Amino acid sequence: MALRSRLRVSLAVALFLGVPLALFAVEDGASPVFHIVTPVDRCVVNREKLEIVVLDRRPDTPALRVNGQPIEWKPYTPPLYAAQAALIEGENTIEIGGRTISLFRTSDGATPPKDWPEFKAHRAKNAGWRDCSLCHETAQKDERVRVGEWKGYDDTCASCHDEDNVTETHAHTLDPLADCGSCHAFHGTTRDTLLRGEPRKLCAGCHD
Ligand code: HEC
Ligand code: HEC
Ligand code: HEC
Ligand code: HEC
Repeated sequence: MALRSRLRVSLAVALFLGVPLALFAVEDGASPVFHIVTPVDRCVVNREKLEIVVLDRRPDTPALRVNGQPIEWKPYTPPLYAAQAALIEGENTIEIGGRTISLFRTSDGATPPKDWPEFKAHRAKNAGWRDCSLCHETAQKDERVRVGEWKGYDDTCASCHDEDNVTETHAHTLDPLADCGSCHAFHGTTRDTLLRGEPRKLCAGCHD
């Protein structure tokens, strides 16, 4: 608790002084330069509109094409790039900065490739994540939105998943689990319950 409040105070001070927000200091260690946050390659999607979020620290803006059509990024501050794609039924090809991923949008007429799992992201309606400032520190800069760190459990999840709910569903006290994003890939994964990995491995950081 104390640590979280301290963090919040220093963030408020940083914002007040105009100090640039740390932009996603925590990232995929395997590819810090280019990282597709969402969606996941080779999976099945059951809706038309899909968010694409990429962190790309290379100097050039990555080109984005959905089924060959160029798509504009929304006005965010690099290294964050985000856009919304409209998927056609059946197989879709998405090219992002030289990487190509494939997604299959469910349709009546066609069967998805075998072994492609279902893509899952947080579904609750009023936690729809189009307004980044609901959950992230944000700031305006040159008509672009700078999206910073997640605001934390108290301000973003607790209104729906209160302490009793978290304690009960995890059979665990809340405090050690308050960094929800360390175990749940809020913006999407193919794993059940939006988990980032095998439950046992997720616990192993703190328990043998
Ligand atoms: C309802 C809450 C919510 C909203 C709204 C939301 N996010 Fe997030 N986002 C999260 C959580 C939770 C995490 C994981 C936090 C962590 O572990 O640091 C996260 C992480 C991220 C990450 C880092 C992911 C990674 O794997 O490194 C990016 C980038 C991101 N969000 C972008 C966005 C953008 C862009 C928007 C708006 C279009 C947005 N988010 C809206 C909750 C939200
Ligand atoms: C507006 C209410 C609301 C907010 C805010 C909210 N959730 Fe949820 N969440 C729900 C509901 C409702 C469900 C069950 C939805 C479903 O089954 O599709 C859910 C489901 C989940 C699940 C399980 C998903 C699954 O597939 O089983 C996780 C994990 C989760 N939420 C984490 C979070 C985190 C982390 C935050 C904060 C960043 C958050 N939620 C914010 C309402 C909310
Ligand atoms: C140490 C890893 C870890 C952390 C941290 C964590 N969770 Fe979970 N969460 C899990 C596991 C494991 C499950 C159970 C998956 C299952 O049973 O299929 C789960 C399940 C859930 C579910 C679905 C519950 C159900 O039965 O429908 C929700 C909602 C959820 N977590 C929300 C949160 C929220 C909110 C936070 C932050 C306070 C959080 N989790 C932090 C590992 C974690
Ligand atoms: C961030 C560190 C952290 C993570 C990750 C974590 N725990 Fe814990 N866990 C703790 C701490 C600290 C305690 C003891 C304090 C408390 O209960 O609040 C604890 C207590 C427990 C207890 C009760 C043990 C006792 O002696 O009463 C169980 C059982 C447990 N954890 C299981 C899990 C499981 C299962 C997971 C993965 C889903 C998990 N923990 C993930 C930190 C963590």
